[in-house]
Amino acid sequence: MKASQLKDKFINFFVSKNHVEIPSASLVPQNDPTTLFISAGMHPLVPYLLGQPHPFGKRLTDIQKCVRTGDIDEVGDETHHTFFEMLGNWSLGDYFKKEAIEWSFEFLTKHLNFDANRLSVTCFAGDENAPKDKESATLWQSLGIKNIKFLPKKDNWWGPAGAVGPCGPDTEMFIDGVEIWNDVFMQYYKDNSGNYQTGSQINVDTGMGVERTIAILSGFSDNYLSDIWQSIIKKIEEISNKSYSDNNNKKPIRIIADHIRSAVFIIADGVEPSNKEAGYVLRRLIRRAIRQGKLLGIESNFISPIAQAVLNNQDNYAGIYPELNENKDKIISILEAEENKFRKTLNNGLREINKLIDRNKSVSGKEAFTLYESFGFPVEMIKEELEKNNLSLNLAEFDQAKTDHQKLSQTLSAGKFKSGLADNSEIITKYHTVTHLLHASLRKILGDHVQQSGSNITSERLRFDFSHDQKLTDEQLKQVTNLVNQQIQLDLSVTVQTMPFVDAQKQGALAFFGTKYPEIVTVYTVGDFSKEVCTGPHVEHLGLLGTFEIQKEESAGSGKRRIYAVLK
Ligand code: ALA
Repeated sequence: MKASQLKDKFINFFVSKNHVEIPSASLVPQNDPTTLFISAGMHPLVPYLLGQPHPFGKRLTDIQKCVRTGDIDEVGDETHHTFFEMLGNWSLGDYFKKEAIEWSFEFLTKHLNFDANRLSVTCFAGDENAPKDKESATLWQSLGIKNIKFLPKKDNWWGPAGAVGPCGPDTEMFIDGVEIWNDVFMQYYKDNSGNYQTGSQINVDTGMGVERTIAILSGFSDNYLSDIWQSIIKKIEEISNKSYSDNNNKKPIRIIADHIRSAVFIIADGVEPSNKEAGYVLRRLIRRAIRQGKLLGIESNFISPIAQAVLNNQDNYAGIYPELNENKDKIISILEAEENKFRKTLNNGLREINKLIDRNKSVSGKEAFTLYESFGFPVEMIKEELEKNNLSLNLAEFDQAKTDHQKLSQTLSAGKFKSGLADNSEIITKYHTVTHLLHASLRKILGDHVQQSGSNITSERLRFDFSHDQKLTDEQLKQVTNLVNQQIQLDLSVTVQTMPFVDAQKQGALAFFGTKYPEIVTVYTVGDFSKEVCTGPHVEHLGLLGTFEIQKEESAGSGKRRIYAVLK
């Protein structure tokens, strides 16, 4: 079976069980400042798992793009990936364990034709937060499954995806001991203080990884042998003149294939390489791929032809994710620019190391860490360069510098979590609403060419990027601020309606150019002032917002401005 057939079968099966197929959301979370990427199918659905009605109803199914970078260092073995696709079905306060388990069993045994004897399952063993999940085990037994284990929270509990949110016990399915599918019974909500509360709604969230499932179906223990990877790996073989069948080449080829595929999808969703957050992850992925290319003996630019192989994969990618075709040129040019830049960094780094060697006859572990951290110079290459000069790297000192640095960034990011979704949702909701007011005000003061190009909300401020090619004058900033505050003073009410996307457009609702919307959308309207297609949530009336204040206005790249603003 091909991966594209597996995807079709999955979606068709759940559509036949009255689920509605929804498009994959962007890899960049829209309303969760605590994480950099969408890491599971349920992640973009959090508002609906918490009770907000979904415009498509209570049963949904999709193929969601995901990125998990937690075990980036494991990539290179047979089963790890940074980007992957997750097949999922959801009950939003509708069916529960019985249907979820029976349908999982039916799909695995009747549609993927796995022999039930190969199937084993695990269920939640119970603890102080939630009881032992005997109900799931009984359901599996009634289907003839004998191999059932009860495991504790660390194995059989899923979520939340970010710092707080919906979560619950799960039942995991294994074929010949390899996990293939996970049904999560999302009845709980992990709050700010780490407590598990009973959730507002009983949900089912499931996840089946395409890469692993298709490998198991094809009888491969190596995920990279499935059809998904063939054209990409072939391109790498062609450029490097090295064969994947040679064991020495497997690891670098897998890392290159995985990292470039991830980079392509991340750029398609609007991220550019930078030194922080998602941009930094992207930069690392590209740099690691280049480094692995060097190990295969590739010394000149090679990223873009491999990215092209991902973009050309119509069945698996371009046919499903229109953002790939729409951003093709941009993806290639960003990758090329980043590759050129990194090759320059490598040359500069080499010069720097050789200067240190000439001057001090050594490079200390600390200096090596600075080269690694500030110039992005790979530590293996520092080692190699030293070895050429019969010197060695003081690894203990290097590791110490790295640990010190990690401690510092962990402290910083813990701060970020605390001030992020943890304080959800009241303040985040307010910032979300005032973002609509800011957008509408900018258009009224500066003109209709103003379009939102990015938004990021924390509990402390909003950040809003928009198209406009001149610095705003003090007068304009004042006018925009006043206009927003006038609406707040009028205490206009915020109303929400569900309607076909075409009608929303006819009514002049703002929507993002180039975004794939479902046929039916929710539209938030603030008096006569603002109308936008949006998933919410928003405050019910503006009086709740307080006073709006712009703190900073700056360039956000060519033709784009950025505003930081707060509510007081
Ligand atoms: N959210 C669950 C997972 O990622 C289904 O495994």
